[in-house]
Amino acid sequence: MLNLVVLVSGSGSNLQALMDACNQGMNARIVLVISDKGDAYGLERARQAGIATEVIPAADYDSRESFDQALQQRIDAAQAELVLLAGFMRILSAGFVNHYAGRLLNIHPSLLPKFRGLHTHQRALEAGEMEHGASVHFVTLELDGGPLIAQAKVAVQKDDDADTLAARVLQREHQLYPTVVRWFSEGRLCLRDEQVILDSKTLSEPVQLAE
Ligand code: GAR
Repeated sequence: MLNLVVLVSGSGSNLQALMDACNQGMNARIVLVISDKGDAYGLERARQAGIATEVIPAADYDSRESFDQALQQRIDAAQAELVLLAGFMRILSAGFVNHYAGRLLNIHPSLLPKFRGLHTHQRALEAGEMEHGASVHFVTLELDGGPLIAQAKVAVQKDDDADTLAARVLQREHQLYPTVVRWFSEGRLCLRDEQVILDSKTLSEPVQLAE
């Protein structure tokens, strides 16, 4: 069983998809859910599922480094083998990212390298994109720039606004993240020399998840 720690700041619908996958036979278990926000609904989802939770309020720390050290201490105490950012809305320090090299994943709501950062759905609409979606990648020091593992696409509709587009992307995220975590749990996926290896082959581009 692969020990997962999931970091959330908000609703935790991706956390829910991961919890559901664990309950449906994935060889992994969520040992701890951590949030920087005490009112994150993701914490409630974890509690309802009997999963341990921790809140680490950023206001309690006077620097990014000291917050990240506290975070790292909790994650390591839980013996995490894979750390999943699931709507965790903080920039992580170099020390933290390096400590978890190859075992830290993020899901981002765009077809990276397009639209790093925030407000991705609105920006995709303003750019007139025909396709949008979500990406899962290994986290490295470059913000939203780590090696891509897999993506799920959605077609942009004529009448989409940022909310309708976000909702359709989110549905695809709920398929995408568990799929990638499953590969990792099966020993099929790793990071080597900043390259993604899946089934013993170096990925030259991210896997596109089928509809
Ligand atoms: C998701 O769309 C995720 O991709 C995004 O936040 C949302 C969290 O939703 N993450 C980022 O923007 C990270 N930069 P959730 O709390 O319902 O899983």
